[in-house]
Amino acid sequence: MTEYPHIVGIGGTTRPGSSTEMLVRAILAECGARGAETTMFAGAELLALPHYNPGDPTRTDGQRALVDAARRADGFVIGTPGYHGSVSALVKNAIDLLEDTRTDDARVYMDGCPVGLVVSAAGWQATGVTLSALRDIIHALRGWPTPIGIGVNTIVQRPFDDEGRIADESIAGAVRMQAGQIMDHVSGTRMRKQAV
Ligand SMILES: Cc1cc2nc3c(=O)[nH]c(=O)nc-3n(C[C@H](O)[C@H](O)[C@H](O)COP(=O)(O)O)c2cc1C
Repeated sequence: MTEYPHIVGIGGTTRPGSSTEMLVRAILAECGARGAETTMFAGAELLALPHYNPGDPTRTDGQRALVDAARRADGFVIGTPGYHGSVSALVKNAIDLLEDTRTDDARVYMDGCPVGLVVSAAGWQATGVTLSALRDIIHALRGWPTPIGIGVNTIVQRPFDDEGRIADESIAGAVRMQAGQIMDHVSGTRMRKQAV
């Protein structure tokens, strides 16, 4: 574990100005303001990852970078758009790559890590069901979804202004609260580890 908590963000779409990516970055920035080192894997990096293939052990530089960052992570922020009622293939492909850590001695998957979750969709139904699906995925990876999950409905909410600042106070509040929960959980995990 590094001196500063390391929080890894994974999320976004290939769309310029992706609201999913901007939300993940906003949460990472709040974690950074609370003392975290952060690493972001956004739409461009996710698009460059080959399809995860369990039968092919070769890895690209991009795949290695993501797995290395995940191994050094104390916490995560995962953001996805709601695509056809669930997590996008781009984001799920990156998550599937964490299978590379399944036999690690130090830590498997996201075991014990707080994980902030964000969904951006064009309706409340996809926002809700996608957030729920993402929580189930994180449980499968032994991560701890924070109590605050963030769902943004881009049809009725305008999350960012033209300068890229959060334009909606309820979203800003949720971003601050989720970042606080991630950082509090990291501190708690560290204290418990030191006590053992
Ligand atoms: C292939 C595709 C499927 C989508 N499916 C849904 C959906 O099922 N429900 C919904 O509310 N929005 C859906 N959307 C809209 C996106 O979730 C929405 O525009 C989201 O805010 C995009 O995130 P971004 O700003 O990060 O690109 C879909 C968009 C695309 C391109």
